[in-house]
Amino acid sequence: MCMGYERRCVFFKMSGDSAQMFNPADKVAKISHCSSMEQYRKMHEKSLKDPEGFWSEIAKDFHFEENGLGQFLDYNFDVRKGKIYTKWMAGSKTNISYNCLDRHVLAGKGDQVAFHWEGNDPADAEIVTYSDLMKDVCRMSNVLKSKGVSKGDRVAIYMPMIKELVVAMLAVARIGAVHSIVFGGYSAGSLADRMLDAEASALITTDAVWRGSKLIPLKEIADDALKICRAKNTNIKVNIVVKHISRVTAPQSAANGAANGNPAKKTHFDDTGNFKVGWDDKVDVWWHDVVKDVSSECPPVWMDAEDPLFMLYTSGSTGKPKGVLHTVGGYMLYAATTFKYSFDYHPGDIYFCTADIGWITGHTYVTYGPLLNNATSVLFEGVPTYPHSGRFWEIIEKYKVSKFYTAPTAIRTLMKYGDEPVKKYDLSSLAVLGSVGEPINPEAWLWYYRVVGDSNVSIVDTFWQTETGGHVITPLPGATPAKPGSACFPFFGVDVALLDEEGREIKGEGEGYLVFRQPWPGIMRTVYGNHERFETTYFKKFPGFYCTGDGAKRDKDGYIWVTGRIDDMLNVSGHLLSTAQVESSMVEHEHVAEAAVVARPHNVKGECLHCFVTLTQGADFTDKLVSELKVKVRSTIGPFATPDYIQLAPGLPKTRSGKIMRRVLRKIAAGERDFGDISTLADPSVVEVLFEHRPNDK
Ligand code: WT7
Repeated sequence: MCMGYERRCVFFKMSGDSAQMFNPADKVAKISHCSSMEQYRKMHEKSLKDPEGFWSEIAKDFHFEENGLGQFLDYNFDVRKGKIYTKWMAGSKTNISYNCLDRHVLAGKGDQVAFHWEGNDPADAEIVTYSDLMKDVCRMSNVLKSKGVSKGDRVAIYMPMIKELVVAMLAVARIGAVHSIVFGGYSAGSLADRMLDAEASALITTDAVWRGSKLIPLKEIADDALKICRAKNTNIKVNIVVKHISRVTAPQSAANGAANGNPAKKTHFDDTGNFKVGWDDKVDVWWHDVVKDVSSECPPVWMDAEDPLFMLYTSGSTGKPKGVLHTVGGYMLYAATTFKYSFDYHPGDIYFCTADIGWITGHTYVTYGPLLNNATSVLFEGVPTYPHSGRFWEIIEKYKVSKFYTAPTAIRTLMKYGDEPVKKYDLSSLAVLGSVGEPINPEAWLWYYRVVGDSNVSIVDTFWQTETGGHVITPLPGATPAKPGSACFPFFGVDVALLDEEGREIKGEGEGYLVFRQPWPGIMRTVYGNHERFETTYFKKFPGFYCTGDGAKRDKDGYIWVTGRIDDMLNVSGHLLSTAQVESSMVEHEHVAEAAVVARPHNVKGECLHCFVTLTQGADFTDKLVSELKVKVRSTIGPFATPDYIQLAPGLPKTRSGKIMRRVLRKIAAGERDFGDISTLADPSVVEVLFEHRPNDK
C-alpha cells in the first residue's frame, strides 16, 4: 500500500508492541504543568471539543490591543465545501514583537537574560537581556521604516546564528512586515529563487561567519543572489549588512592565515587581516552605521491576528519550494503553548535549542516560543564538533542547561565519539531532552537517555512540520510514559486520524496516512501566492483532513509511531528535500539525459541521496562527471543537498506508461532484493543491471 513504510521499518526495526516504556523523570513530573496522563487526556479532550474555551484561557496571558479576541475560530477543511481556510481570533489586534519583549519589560523583567550568545569559538560569548533586545529591535524597526519598508512588505533575511538575526526578525514583525528567512547554508540560486517568489523589498545579511573552521562568505553569496534578481528586473531597496567576522575569534587553522595555506584566509582577507566585501552604494548599508543615530523606541504596528507574520520555504514534491505562510495570532499562541508544555518550561530554566533559526525549529523554538515565555536561552553560532566533539556538553555544563533540544542526526554523529566526551562534563542540570526532524532510532534514543541524560531525564520526541508551526505529536515530559522511537500522543488542539489508501479511517491498532481533522492555532494558512497549491498539497487527497505526507502506525496502547514520508521527499539530517528538485538540477548537466533520486539509509544523516543517472549518447560515466554533478547540486540548492551516491543507470525501471517505479530504486539503493511485484515494468531486466552498478556503502 504505502511505499514509504517498509523503508523506515526495515531501517529502524521499529516495533511498537515490544518497546520498553520510560516513565517521566520524577524531578520533571513533580513540578510539571501537566503531570499525569489523566490530566493530559482531560486537557486534550477540552481542546478538541471546546477550542475557544481552551485557547481563549491561554490567550489571557498575551496582550491584545483591540477587539478582545476577535472572532475566535472559523475554518473549512473540506475541499468539497469550497475554499480551504483557517482563521483564529480574526479582527483582534496584537503584535508578536510586543508580546515577546515589551510585555516582559513592562512587567519588570527587562534585566533578565534573553540569550546567552555562544560563538563558534568558545572564547566568544555575550549576554543579551530582554531590555537590550527590545532597544535593538526598536532601532532596527526604525531603520527599516526609514528605508521605506512597511506593513505587509517582505524582508528576506540571510544570516548566521547571531543576536542580530533575532533582532532582525522581531524588528520586521514589529512594523508589520513579513520575514522570509533563508537558511545560511543555501546557495545564491536558492536565495534568489526565494527572494523572487516572495517579491522581497529588502535583505538583511552578514559579511561572513565561521562555521567550525569553515568560512561562509554570506554577503558574497547574497551579492550573487541579488545579481540574479536584478537580471530578472527585481530590485531590492536596501541590503543591511552586519559586520560580524572581524569581531569574533578566527579558528586556529585560519589564524595564521595564508602562512599555513588556509584557502579562506587567502582569498577573503586582505594583507592587513581585514575581511574583503564587495560594496554597492545604491543598496548596501552597514547595520552598525544605520542604527547609530536612531531612536531606541518604536511603537509596534497593531496587526490583525490573521495578518501574515512570516513565510518560510519548504520543499515540495514538484521541486519548486513552497512559501509556507504563518499568521500572527494563532502562531503566537501555539508557539508559546507548545514550548511551555513540551519542554515543561519554568522560570529559572536554561534552555538550549541547537537548531538554526533558518529552519522552522529555530523560528518557533529559538526565537518565538522561548521569548513569548520570557525564557532564558542559549543561542549557539557553532557546530557540534568544533573545536571538539564535546562542544554541546561543554555548553550545557557552562550555562547549566536544563532543557535541551536537538536532532537525531546530531545525536548519531556524537554517539560515534563514544561516552567519554559526554562523561567529561557535569550534565546534572538536564531535565528534559528533546528530539526533532525525523524518526529517532531507538538506539540513539537510549544513548541520549542513558549517556546524556544519566537515566534521570524525560525525553520528548516531537513530531511536527514547517507547516504545523509547532509540535503536533509529542510526549509531555511530566506526564507521558515514553516509548523510544514513538512521538506518542497529539498535542492540545490536534485531532489525529490514520487513513487507508481509500480514505477510510483506521481505528485502534493499524498503519496508514497520518492526517489531522481540525485546525490547531499554528497551522499554516496558505502557500504564499499560490493558494491552490496549498489546497492540492494538503487537502485534496482526503477531503476533510489536513494530510501531513507522512505515514504512521498506532500501536495497541494508542501510541503514534511516525514512519516517514510517503511522497517523493527525502529527509536528510532532519530537513526535507524533494527528489524533483535534485533531479532537475542534475539534468541541467549536458551529459545527463535523465535522473532519478531516492533516499538511501544513512547511519548519521538518517537518509542520504542516491542518484541514478542515464547519460546522453556517447557520454562516459567517469569520476569527473560524478564530481561535476555533486558540485552542480551543491551550487544550485546548497551544500546540505550534496548527493552521497551517484550511479550509472543504463535504463530506469519504468511502467509501460513511463512512470518511474521509485519503490524499486529505493530497494536498489538500500541494497535489498525483495522488490515485490515488478511484473508491470516495461523491462524488468533493468533491475539487475542497476544492481550491478550499485556503489557500495562508504
Ligand atoms: C518532516 C517535516 C519540524 C521540524 C523539522 C523538520 C519529519 C519531523 C519528526 C519526528 C518523525 C519527523 C516528518 C515531517 N519529522 N519530526 N519527531 N518523528 N518524523 O521540518 O523540514 O518541515 O520536515 O520531518 O517527515 O513531515 P520539515
